[in-house]
Amino acid sequence: MTVIAIDGPAGSGKSTLARNLARALGFLFLDTGAMYRALALAAQRAHIAPDEEVRLTELAQQIKVHFVMQGDEQRVMLNDEDVSEAIRTPEISDLASRISVYSGVRRAMVALQRALAAQTHGVVAEGRDTTTVVFPEAAVKIYLDASPQERARRRQHQLQQQGINAPYEQLLQQILERDARDASRPDSPLRIAPDAIVVQNDGWTKEQTFEHVLQLCRERLGLN
Ligand code: DC
Repeated sequence: MTVIAIDGPAGSGKSTLARNLARALGFLFLDTGAMYRALALAAQRAHIAPDEEVRLTELAQQIKVHFVMQGDEQRVMLNDEDVSEAIRTPEISDLASRISVYSGVRRAMVALQRALAAQTHGVVAEGRDTTTVVFPEAAVKIYLDASPQERARRRQHQLQQQGINAPYEQLLQQILERDARDASRPDSPLRIAPDAIVVQNDGWTKEQTFEHVLQLCRERLGLN
């Protein structure tokens, strides 16, 4: 089984990159953030509060999360229900970030992530700890980064397309706060693995990032 692992801060373009790489290589796109989000949704439905560490850990050990292809789109399944849209609300984003701090929750999710990968011939895993904790032996490790200012601009553009006008300074502040939270978490903080290739994509299009990293993967995996 071949693993390409990609970590980086929110807004660096990891998900788009990982999805496109997985498609190009015929690998599973292991969206670990979606798995924490699915757990958050299950917790919300079971009326488990974000501070109930023991119940959250038990829930993480019980739930089944997996991915299925529908046409050329990958869907997120929670106990066989398609929750791809339900996990993308701001409420679930907030809840996922709160429950992902618990070690018991993380251990259960990491076990699930490794089990899903083991069923495939190749995965592109993406998250905050896939290069450092989940797949320390990954064949290719990428740390995808962009400056906070660039990420705030991207977020502003994304929101504008949805008809939402958000002030740049406020978005920048949110990004800086989230970065600080991700990096200061005691268990599995976001950090650059010593053997990761750092890709800084300020000013690049999604296509440029994809072409650059695809080429890196081909070289590393001997696919050229
Ligand atoms: O990447 P995302 O926004 O979908 O992730 C949702 C939340 O889960 C986010 O707050 C960070 C957390 N997460 C994590 O702690 N570890 C991962 N490997 C992936 C996501």
